[in-house]
Amino acid sequence: MRHFLDLSDAGGDAIAAMINDAQDRKAARLGWSKGKPDTDAPLAGHVLAMIFEKSSTRTRVSFDVAMRQLGGRAIVMDAGGMQLGRGESVADTARVLSRMVDAIMIRTDDHAKIEELAHHATVPVINGLTDASHPCQIVADLLTLVERGHALPGLQLAWLGDGNNVLNSLIEAAGLMEFTVRVGGPAGYEPDRGVIERARAAGAEIVLTQSAQEAVAGANAVVTDCWVSMGQTGTNAQVVAMQPYQVDDSLMAGAAAGATFLHCLPAHRGEEVTDSVIDGAQSAVWDEAENRIHAQKSVLRWCFGQL
Ligand code: CP
Ligand code: NVA
Repeated sequence: MRHFLDLSDAGGDAIAAMINDAQDRKAARLGWSKGKPDTDAPLAGHVLAMIFEKSSTRTRVSFDVAMRQLGGRAIVMDAGGMQLGRGESVADTARVLSRMVDAIMIRTDDHAKIEELAHHATVPVINGLTDASHPCQIVADLLTLVERGHALPGLQLAWLGDGNNVLNSLIEAAGLMEFTVRVGGPAGYEPDRGVIERARAAGAEIVLTQSAQEAVAGANAVVTDCWVSMGQTGTNAQVVAMQPYQVDDSLMAGAAAGATFLHCLPAHRGEEVTDSVIDGAQSAVWDEAENRIHAQKSVLRWCFGQL
């Protein structure tokens, strides 16, 4: 049984295989209409159930389209419309869905909930974002960086702002794919300590600094995300503390020539990033969003033992 709750469930070799597979499959269907199945339709006859306890545009649409392109189908449910939302247990939901579908993707708040779902499911469970991590996003981000010509081993990546779920998965990826992450952010908003320690133990250099300039100096990739994530009660103090970490043209100028800007989206223009950066020549955010489809097709294929 292959669950994809975090990147380390797959490991570095499998992540590299996913990136290669995604590139090949993306190239093979260039210019096709988006709902047309791939020639080999490797997940024909398979159904994915998706449960959303939080809002989503990219994750919702990209998994649905990914399943169509793989020849399968998806069922999208908001938790509020499910008995789960009325108190049916996570364990019973896992048992029932495992009898009805071939895989389950869930976006939820508490990471323990996805672990419980996976524990009771007899089909693969995929993390579509929790408060702790967002591994599918990072497979798409790594694919985007490779497409832009960056080699992952030795890459210098700068993160600006809040130490959130997306950053936790990025740091986990640094340990698996051997790159450096320099985090520029205010005190009190650091990423998960355990994730940092595991990445460092795997040989990755993870630097925490309160200097935005130090974080971006010479970086090949500059990445940010919202200052206040879903489910957080953002205070004015939080927004004020994040101001020095806004990615603007002068900060991008401190990165390496040809550095790529990434943002998982949705963006809060004028907060964590300026229009000039997100709409500028170094931004890869629209490729990054599209790559959610291609990356997740490979995540799904890995879950079904095809990679
Ligand atoms: N980046 C991302 O996961 O977007 P959604 O919240 O729209 O799914
Ligand atoms: N950190 C953000 C990511 C959204 C895709 C959040 O959790 O809201």
